[in-house]
Amino acid sequence: MHIHKYEKIWLIFGVGSLVLFLGVIGVAAFAFGHQPPSHMATVDAENLDQDPVFSEPGLTKIDESTYRATLVAQAFGYNPNRIEVPEGSTVLFEVTSADVVHSFTIPGTNVNFMVTPGHVNMAEHTFNEPGEYLVLCNEYCGTGHHYMSMTIEVVPR
Ligand code: CUA
Repeated sequence: MHIHKYEKIWLIFGVGSLVLFLGVIGVAAFAFGHQPPSHMATVDAENLDQDPVFSEPGLTKIDESTYRATLVAQAFGYNPNRIEVPEGSTVLFEVTSADVVHSFTIPGTNVNFMVTPGHVNMAEHTFNEPGEYLVLCNEYCGTGHHYMSMTIEVVPR
């Protein structure tokens, strides 16, 4: 079989770049331990009441302007369903579900992620504007889905 010279060049180029990029991904994954931007933390969704963190969800102060909010999403609400932080606070949200797939969405911000049972889903946001922020569930989760919400109150310092 005769392969034209230009075809050979392109074949070498194509296979070469495939090997190069797979190599880059392989080195990043295995040598540097890079992972997709999902969090691998898991939790026993059946026994959240025995979990050291999620048995008592709520807000924890880490330092002057950093908070950690652990929340349990459950048909059809969030526990707790209201948190309050001072303006300028960075809040690290750690959310899990006690039943089905929900979401944790703060309209007007970049916070919008799925909440899956068995996983700890995380996001971080800095609230620079005081006011009341609504949190919504964006994943259809049952007959009460449209009632599922909570509030984040950002109070002036
Ligand atoms: Cu929870 Cu929709």
